[in-house]
Amino acid sequence: MIVLCTHNDGGVGKTTLAVHVAGALQANFSRILLIDCDDQADFWQFYSNALPKRNKDIFLGGDISVIWNRKREAIRRLAKPEQYDHIVLDMDSALQNSVEMILGSQPDLVLVPVNASQKIKALRNLPRTLTVIAQLAEKTGNSPRTVIVPLGIPATAIEPILQQPELQGFPWEIAPAMPNLQDPMQIAIYQDHKYIWQYPEYADMLDYFSNLLKF
Ligand SMILES: Nc1ncnc2c1ncn2[C@@H]1O[C@H](COP(=O)(O)OP(=O)(O)O)[C@@H](O)[C@H]1O
Ligand SMILES: [Mg+2]
Repeated sequence: MIVLCTHNDGGVGKTTLAVHVAGALQANFSRILLIDCDDQADFWQFYSNALPKRNKDIFLGGDISVIWNRKREAIRRLAKPEQYDHIVLDMDSALQNSVEMILGSQPDLVLVPVNASQKIKALRNLPRTLTVIAQLAEKTGNSPRTVIVPLGIPATAIEPILQQPELQGFPWEIAPAMPNLQDPMQIAIYQDHKYIWQYPEYADMLDYFSNLLKF
């Protein structure tokens, strides 16, 4: 499966999802490729604890390999996708870059986060990302399952956005709302480089992320 985490806004939870989806896959599979398409390389740094030095730099971490795809090249130019059980891509916020990577990776699943701290802006701009996904699906015939993931906001906050006329006709899904974990999530990813479920009080979050991947 190829999973792409995207939204045309920064700080909304793309890397949070990418890291934890990768971790949930790691619990059951041994050949996972992660592709970091953001100049900031947060996804890469979570695993390597260092900055990548050059485009296509690869970090090998046991079950998980991470490639920094700063130039957003198509997957086939980076690796042999068939050698992996699953591939997870983390995007930056430029809409055009997501267009390139949707075309270059043909994802099966697109995850679009909206978190509490960026809620108003992220919801306002959500239709831009979704419109692009729908347009590309129509153009290419590859229609990825697309799930909007509320991070610390109720799922009902997303529903009115999906009622907009220009978004009709695509089977958008809304994931169950994740509890508000703003500070613990930030500490886990950017300070401790741990999955949130590695803290005993959030052990049940592994199930939350595993369920996101279930068809
Ligand atoms: N469940 C959650 N509830 C509330 N806030 C969250 C949750 N998960 C993540 N966040 C917040 O989202 C912030 C931005 O996340 P990040 O994944 O770095 O965004 P992006 O990759 O889109 O720039 C994190 O610092 C964290 O505080
Ligand atoms: Mg990020």
